[in-house]
Amino acid sequence: MNWKKALDGITPYKPGRSIEEVTRMYGLKEVVKLASNENPYGCAPSVKESLASAAIQHEIYPDGYASALRSKLTQKLGVDEEAVLFGNGSDEIIMIITRALLGTDTNTVMATPTFPQYAHNAKIAGAEIREVTLKDNGQHDLEGFLKAIDSETAVIWICNPNNPTGNLIPSDALEAFLGQVPPNILVVLDEAYIEYVMAPGYIDSVTYLEQFPNVILLRTFSKAYGLASYRVGYAIGHPAVISNLNKVRNPFNNNSIGLAIAEKALDDEAFIEQCRKLNHEQRKRFKHYADEKKLHLFDSETNFVLIEVPNDSDDASEKLLQQGFIVRSGNALGTPGYIRVTIGSEEQTSKFLKAFDTLWQSEGSPV
Ligand SMILES: Cc1ncc(COP(=O)(O)O)c(C=O)c1O
Repeated sequence: MNWKKALDGITPYKPGRSIEEVTRMYGLKEVVKLASNENPYGCAPSVKESLASAAIQHEIYPDGYASALRSKLTQKLGVDEEAVLFGNGSDEIIMIITRALLGTDTNTVMATPTFPQYAHNAKIAGAEIREVTLKDNGQHDLEGFLKAIDSETAVIWICNPNNPTGNLIPSDALEAFLGQVPPNILVVLDEAYIEYVMAPGYIDSVTYLEQFPNVILLRTFSKAYGLASYRVGYAIGHPAVISNLNKVRNPFNNNSIGLAIAEKALDDEAFIEQCRKLNHEQRKRFKHYADEKKLHLFDSETNFVLIEVPNDSDDASEKLLQQGFIVRSGNALGTPGYIRVTIGSEEQTSKFLKAFDTLWQSEGSPV
């Protein structure tokens, strides 16, 4: 078969080990998955209740316009109904953007390391990928981005806060950057973790959309809303941008249950607020722990931390796995010497830090 040349060297997405697999492999009683930045508190109890009573007509296609969810979400955001596009997770929106804008005659600019799906999709499209190394503190090098742009640049990807470092770009720096990007380039601000941000001075980027019609925001119900299994993400942007992306979208890309559940989840802002606070408390514990052990930890505004390990990242991940914690090795994320850990509940964090202590004592504790 004549496969696209671009597929050479691309590896399919390899999911991490499941809880069941690790439980079996190591004969453990309890395994905690802290590898995919899911919400340790689940979703709002009101959402779970509504699931039992949701009147879904199984034989009817979903609402391809997501009318009910669209109406509630756009009212909450204070934007036009035509300013939103729904995707099967924000993953699908990344694919839609790529399909609509990237090809062999274009280039695309992104940080490294960052969320790998931008490069993955761009590779398949045959676009040139221009990666701008993060600064030592994990911040995006926005000057470097501006230097990397030329007349063939079609899309810029900014993961804010960034996965895997967790850093948030200060709002003034972001706004100044947006003002310097040529208006014919689409700037994607991927805000998958935005609900977790506590940084003082953070300005909601929805407010930038009027001033910068070439900016699009990606958000998701997978993280703070605790609905990763339903695959609902969305983009907010100028109606003209959304309209072009809509040409590429499959007609029924979200299923009926996902749409109904996401709509219900929007009613429970108190749950999100509570998760944000609980997450912040546990995030502070990681920071304190890292400081105490003199291990580097990037400033995170998300529900995960990238923390230095006293040995090789794969080795550290394996040792934590043996103790019942699934984390992501930095070797797979472009951050060797670190692991990425999803911030769990208070109890999970206490147990995790104990497991990390064992690792630290056996590998790295200075005498
Ligand atoms: C930065 C970022 N963007 C997008 C996604 C995709 O999220 P989803 O497709 O579940 O909405 C993730 C998932 O981990 C992520 O970390």
